Amino acid sequence: MLPSVLPNPKSKGKAMNLSITVNGIKFPNPFLLGSGPPGTNARVIAKSFDAGWGGVVAKTVSLESAKVVNVVPRYGRLRSRDTGEIIGFENIELISDRPIDVWLQEFREIKEDYPDHILIASIMEEYEKSRWQELTRMVQDTGVDAFELNFSCPHGMTERKMGSEMGEHPDLTEEVTAWVTEVAKIPVWAKMTPNITSIKDPAVAAVRGGAHGISAINTILSVIGVDLNTLRPMPTVEGYTVPGGYSSQAVRPIALRMVSQLARALPPEVSISGIGGIENSRDAIEFMLLGASTVQLCTGVMLHGIKIIDELKEGLAKFMTDKEFETVQDVVGKSIPYFSTHMDLVDRMRQAKRHKAGESSRDNDWAEKSITEKTAELTSN
Ligand SMILES: Cc1cc2nc3c(=O)[nH]c(=O)nc-3n(C[C@H](O)[C@H](O)[C@H](O)COP(=O)(O)O)c2cc1C
Repeated sequence: MLPSVLPNPKSKGKAMNLSITVNGIKFPNPFLLGSGPPGTNARVIAKSFDAGWGGVVAKTVSLESAKVVNVVPRYGRLRSRDTGEIIGFENIELISDRPIDVWLQEFREIKEDYPDHILIASIMEEYEKSRWQELTRMVQDTGVDAFELNFSCPHGMTERKMGSEMGEHPDLTEEVTAWVTEVAKIPVWAKMTPNITSIKDPAVAAVRGGAHGISAINTILSVIGVDLNTLRPMPTVEGYTVPGGYSSQAVRPIALRMVSQLARALPPEVSISGIGGIENSRDAIEFMLLGASTVQLCTGVMLHGIKIIDELKEGLAKFMTDKEFETVQDVVGKSIPYFSTHMDLVDRMRQAKRHKAGESSRDNDWAEKSITEKTAELTSN
């Protein structure tokens, strides 16, 4: 097992501590596997703990796995036109199709073997209090460290009024969260769907229902493309498809925006777990600067493997050294004060006597230069 601390090159052998305590839980480092294929059974979870991940949110479980039937193929990719790199990923995968009894046994075993690594159970059920509370009690008894409530899967389960069918309705989000927190003795995070006008509404509702943390985001409803030979939208299953969930790099700016909105809207004691298109330490640090105290990776791990944890930890340690952050907690939310309003930006620009820049931002100028030149001139990175 890799240590949770890394040598800090500038501190003469003193180890850099990457641990962070969130809702009373001590994570060896802030990097978690997000719910999905990377946490699909005890064997892969154990491997990821051995590789050095701080925690795992297991694949979402429910009471009746027999109702969960997956299709093949169920993934679709979007590639960069220039390099061929995968930048977007669609899935029409459902929650876990493994029986709850098997999962309960595996949760127990994982906690016995890895007491210091954090195991979070993702749960989902139909809109019925007794079902949610039964599932909560059963899973809690295994010794998992926290719950993540899946209010956010955007496809498949919605036909049974589960997943994002709940997360899209703040009143249901609040009610179901309260059912769980009534019986839960461990922290409860609510996982948000981005397929909604304002992410704040269901998040604040979940907090009213007693949630200790918010995870954001799940996947964005999408259609990855259409096969121009067959005219069939993809991924195509026996000629047909359904819109699925979009993830990977392409969703990161949307996820960053939503996490920043949550950080500004939620009380400081409510934790945020940032998710969406994270593949390396830079991506992860951006989420942390915008208010996430932990981050989760799913598609990035599916595409590049669990070993990316090495770069995540090294990159965060180097960043903290370079910027002189002593603890991971110090990084969390550091960039939030730099959000403002458009009018304030205009005032600041005027005060900085940047009249020239102000003038060149006028729409009239677009005719004088080529559109690509003008776009580059107005771009910051
Ligand atoms: C194939 C696949 C399966 C997923 N299954 C689940 C799931 O069972 N429960 C859940 O809460 N999220 C699930 N997700 C969503 C991810 O946990 C994550 O919220 C989303 O993919 C965005 O993060 P990423 O860009 O790092 O993948 C799944 C994502 C993918 C790609």
